[in-house]
Amino acid sequence: MTSRVIPVPPFVLTVFGATGDLASRKLIPALFQRDLAGQLPDEANILGVARRAMTPEAFRDHARAAVLEHGGTSGPVLDRFLARIDYLAVDAAGDDGWDALAARLGGFAGRVKVHYLATAPQLFGPICERLGRFGLAGEDARVVVEKPIGRDLASALEVNRVVGEVFSEDRVYRIDHYLGKETVQNLMALRFANALFEPLWNSAHIDHVQITVAESLGVEGRAGYYDTAGTLRDMVQNHLLQLLCLVAMEPPPSLEADAVRDEKLKVLRALKPIDAHNAGHLTVRGQYRAGASAGGAVPGYLEELGSATSRTETFVALKAEIGNWRWAGVPFYLRSGKRLAARVSEIVVGFRPVPHSAFGEGAGPLQPNQLVIRLQPDEGVKLWLMIKDPGPGGIRLTHVPLDMTFAEAFKVRNADAYERLLLDVVRGNQTLFMRRDEVEAAWRWIDPILEAWRGMDEPPRSYAAGTWGPSAAIALIERDGRTWQEDGA
Ligand code: BG6
Repeated sequence: MTSRVIPVPPFVLTVFGATGDLASRKLIPALFQRDLAGQLPDEANILGVARRAMTPEAFRDHARAAVLEHGGTSGPVLDRFLARIDYLAVDAAGDDGWDALAARLGGFAGRVKVHYLATAPQLFGPICERLGRFGLAGEDARVVVEKPIGRDLASALEVNRVVGEVFSEDRVYRIDHYLGKETVQNLMALRFANALFEPLWNSAHIDHVQITVAESLGVEGRAGYYDTAGTLRDMVQNHLLQLLCLVAMEPPPSLEADAVRDEKLKVLRALKPIDAHNAGHLTVRGQYRAGASAGGAVPGYLEELGSATSRTETFVALKAEIGNWRWAGVPFYLRSGKRLAARVSEIVVGFRPVPHSAFGEGAGPLQPNQLVIRLQPDEGVKLWLMIKDPGPGGIRLTHVPLDMTFAEAFKVRNADAYERLLLDVVRGNQTLFMRRDEVEAAWRWIDPILEAWRGMDEPPRSYAAGTWGPSAAIALIERDGRTWQEDGA
């Protein structure tokens, strides 16, 4: 089976922060892949912008290296791709270079203009203000902002305000790259394109939901940023809450952007508060110490950071509940962390046990059904069922998965989330982007947790690198008589 390539309209994409990590690791390689797939029209150009003076040739060399380092290959397509690329030195926080930028973009009349802010968030305001002042924020222009969108509700409101002063909401694209992952979108297909699940998708039939986003890597070169954020801000506020929304939302009337985002917003608003009264019971913070990962010894977070005093969490587990008719009483256990035992992201929907077993003791225990949606690695969906162990000699039951591992089921390359999201911006499709009120509602729920932690005045619990986090995270779920699913089994 081959994937369908839908052409996009002519565009010029300006990448602010073009020499940075995100542009090199994700944006440039993603655009190359789309060119390789034949999806970019002839009139598609990429304009790298950063403060540093650099010739366009030097930037193209940089882009070539980025493509080759991240899965691309040299050849005529790479040459064609590089010919689309140009570079301009522009001072995001001053006025140098802006006239030249306006003149350059003026040469692309009639094209969609995408401004991608792959910069530090402090520059979002100055850049948007100048995009407005230099006439680059007209109806044909869209702006893309990356997380972190604030570090709490107040700062998120401010980011949204400065961007909103220049761009109307229908032209603001807030990226959460988890929404661009193949399996995340499949969650919507699974729920809303099949008659099987939706009748069971409620507290009468679902016992609990687990969402795990585990990484085996540490903070790598990002300790400086990470130490100001921590896992709750870096992962839970955005990626994990977005996943929770897609699992829990009501069926939207269509996949039109606001139809989906309205439903997600209702979920965020229905989350029961976690604050100083219950945070000690419902949340666990951890920080990794030295241990073994991928077979080798690795240092602890404090060593990597070079500071013995940080209390920033590198792991969070929490038990959330959604206070509405569909989900009342169904716990949503969320966990995420760095330097865990494996890189695995998955959603496990645990169904309730059958009300009565007609099978005798010899048949073995009945295990509840589970739907496991694996985001990475090995994207796919497994539905765990009880079946009869084949063979004569009475009925013995066994728990087996109906297994749809996408790599085996569909022989197509799995596109990176940025490939889809970047072209959605060009197409003007906001469905997979966060609306202003969603980001704010997520912070409204996260802020009291952060405040409760500050009030507790205790360090995060330590866990050895290469394990599944502090033992308190295991206790969090086990005291409810449940266990974390570590391998989908
Ligand atoms: C980012 C976080 O948003 O997501 C990183 O800032 C994290 O800390 C990354 O490593 C994980 O993304 P992925 O796609 O590798 O699961």
